[in-house]
Amino acid sequence: MEKIAFLGLGRMGLPMARRLKDVGHELRVWNRTPGRAEDLDATDDPVEAVRGAGVVVTMLADRVALAEVAGRIAGELTPGTLWVDMSSVGPEAVAELAGQLPSGVGLVDAPVLGSVGPAASGGLTVLAGGAAVDVERARPVLAALGTVVPCGGPGSGAALKVVVISAIVGGVAVVGEALAVADAYGLPAELTAGVLGSGPLAGLLARATSIEADFPVRLAAKDVALADGGRVLAAVAEGLNSRPELADRDLARYVDALRAEVVAAAR
Ligand SMILES: NC(=O)c1ccc[n+]([C@@H]2O[C@H](COP(=O)([O-])OP(=O)(O)OC[C@H]3O[C@@H](n4cnc5c(N)ncnc54)[C@H](OP(=O)(O)O)[C@@H]3O)[C@@H](O)[C@H]2O)c1
Repeated sequence: MEKIAFLGLGRMGLPMARRLKDVGHELRVWNRTPGRAEDLDATDDPVEAVRGAGVVVTMLADRVALAEVAGRIAGELTPGTLWVDMSSVGPEAVAELAGQLPSGVGLVDAPVLGSVGPAASGGLTVLAGGAAVDVERARPVLAALGTVVPCGGPGSGAALKVVVISAIVGGVAVVGEALAVADAYGLPAELTAGVLGSGPLAGLLARATSIEADFPVRLAAKDVALADGGRVLAAVAEGLNSRPELADRDLARYVDALRAEVVAAAR
């Protein structure tokens, strides 16, 4: 097993790093804000974290975070190191990162589907893009975290993640609005949920009413913006960004807010 440097111990990164340790990987961890992981071998210096590591894993909020971390460590990486970025940042940011790496350093983009529960249990879906040799080298690490789906060349995992998550977030927003309409009509919530949930929207309904996921509204808005899509996704991004008070709450709380607003307006 290769020595791993794991950078980024947020909602997802911390349980993922713990999972890698639990399955027997040797790892050194770093987070911008220290003190997140007393149970892991942590350092306050990202350069120290990557020194001697064969595989560097990053799980950071967005492309700004990735660029900042890359600015600190890229020049320190030695040929033969493999960087596996699991943040959801889109293919442009992956290409930018690839351009910063010293020659001989490989890169796999491997963003994930699934929230904090699957992150802790190894139940994520990992969308892996990169040179086949690099994806195969990353596989033992990625397979400990979930089901690996090879997507093709560099940036393809990041691209597919944008596609899938923007469809999910957009779908959740639409289902949320439909639930608000049902509330406005005075339909019993169980009746609406029962009928919606027995059709093709079952998965979106479950996500829209989840109490287990922890995917902040600010990150959902970031993902929809990455898609830079058509009118529907633009409206969804605007709706998500219009609720700064929910920025750090799970996406399902955005649905709760839509429904509460309709109920309040009906009074
Ligand atoms: N939460 C989910 O359910 C979920 C599911 C699938 C994919 N994702 C994606 O996975 C990534 C991580 O998500 P998360 O939920 O773990 O986010 P999070 O809880 O907000 O954690 C973000 C991490 O990025 C670090 N960070 C932010 N800005 C930084 C900067 N400028 N320099 C260095 N580090 C910085 C944070 O460090 P600090 O602790 O110092 O702030 C933290 O470690 C995101 O791209 C997200 O879209 C999330």
